[in-house]
Amino acid sequence: SRHFALLPAAGVGARMGADFPKQYLELAGRPMIWHALRAFETHAAISRIYVVLSAADGYWEGYDWSGFAKLSVLRCGGETRAQSVLNGLEAIADEVAEQDWMLVHDAARPCLSRALLDKLLEAVRDDAVGGILAAPVADTLKREGHGQRIRETVPRQGLWGAQTPQMFRYGLLREALRRAGAEVTDEASAIEHLGLSPLLVESDASNLKVTFPHDLEVAGWWLDRCSK
Ligand code: CTP
Ligand code: MG
Repeated sequence: SRHFALLPAAGVGARMGADFPKQYLELAGRPMIWHALRAFETHAAISRIYVVLSAADGYWEGYDWSGFAKLSVLRCGGETRAQSVLNGLEAIADEVAEQDWMLVHDAARPCLSRALLDKLLEAVRDDAVGGILAAPVADTLKREGHGQRIRETVPRQGLWGAQTPQMFRYGLLREALRRAGAEVTDEASAIEHLGLSPLLVESDASNLKVTFPHDLEVAGWWLDRCSK
């Protein structure tokens, strides 16, 4: 079976508060999404990269993508991340087989290293369910009660923060997302709703999602560090 990457990039970046979608913010001299795509472009195991844009996206065409030989652009973004991913999967039904692996990766995670991508591919390649990159939670966790007061401490033992890529077989993932609805915030939770248990593949803080303005600076630091 082959491996395909699918990058949802149809968000507006509301929490970033820039005047255009955050995936186009400049990072190390390129738009953020360039870095996210590059991890897959440069990996020989990845046959094709599908990027899901919003139909209204007027930024993509402003860049030179000629260095990317594997790219297919799908302008079928939806109202939520899950809907964008599902729309993308439906759009490529003729090009991808049920058993092919899909690696779904946020356009807003520009620092995915070769080492972590290799680790995921290696850990999940023979898995019956699929798996995701994730990092053990570091903070002490509090559940809020009344008046924004702490009701209890939630033991962080066994808690992980989900990242991307999330790697599942095309047929299973499409079925899971069709059933889960647009509210799930990652692919794994859709798979969990089927009663299956995806594998947690240990990642680290370098693979951060850029959500708020200061994340952009942290991402710049990681990119700089990895290029040395
Ligand atoms: N995404 C998408 N379609 C949507 C919403 C999000 O393809 N309707 C994509 C984003 O472009 C991003 C990834 O999903 O690459 C992760 O989402 P998030 O970090 O939440 O990005 P935004 O939704 O753009 O940001 P915000 O929630 O702050 O508006
Ligand atoms: Mg969002």
